[in-house]
Amino acid sequence: MGKFQVLDHPLIQHKLTIIRNKDCGTRSFREVVNEISTLMAYEVSRDMPLQDKKIETPVAKMTAKELSGKKVAIVPILRAGIGMVDGILELIPAAKVGHIGMYRDEETLQPHEYFVKLPSDIDQRQVFVVDPMLATGGSAIMAIDALKKRGASNIKFVCLVSAPEGVKALREKHPDVDIYTAALDDHLNEDGYIVPGLGDAGDRLFGTK
Ligand code: PRP
Ligand code: URA
Repeated sequence: MGKFQVLDHPLIQHKLTIIRNKDCGTRSFREVVNEISTLMAYEVSRDMPLQDKKIETPVAKMTAKELSGKKVAIVPILRAGIGMVDGILELIPAAKVGHIGMYRDEETLQPHEYFVKLPSDIDQRQVFVVDPMLATGGSAIMAIDALKKRGASNIKFVCLVSAPEGVKALREKHPDVDIYTAALDDHLNEDGYIVPGLGDAGDRLFGTK
């Protein structure tokens, strides 16, 4: 079974409170989502493999460590996942970025896939699927289905706020996928919104609605 980890670093928790607040405007929301994503990337990349590298410092020869070249792909679920990409690229600038377009029917809450564009070597990469919200889990499950269909096997899912319902569904459907979240909230309401959550992440990021 993959990991389930709530990243409760004080900086992450402080920044999450800023964006949960309904008075946080689009500009701050976007900036702080970026910052949280950078902080989360630090934890999510903790188990990246290292290899030895012989170098010379100004003082002596040494065998140092470097990343072993396992390549990363960041795959945001459109739209809201886009808000997390730049923050992760701050730490992993060489990552490739794929996109999966998914929207949730507001009546049925069922996800619909409308776009998939991935690096051609996605099967060779460590994939970070990013989306601020894990609500029913439908979007995440369908995005990961799309990735596995195209050969990806090494997948982590990174979100800001999750609901117990979504975590359970995602772990049942994709037990191999590690899940990282900044908060595990209480429940989903009858409209499929996470409570207390932060509202509609896509609308708040892009200033729509
Ligand atoms: C939101 C969010 C997730 C999805 C989560 O996207 O960004 O993708 O809902 O809900 P689920 O776990 O129940 O599937 P939305 O469909 O509102 O699209 P948007 O990102 O384009 O706003
Ligand atoms: N999608 C969002 O953007 N917010 C929620 O609370 C649930 C799904």
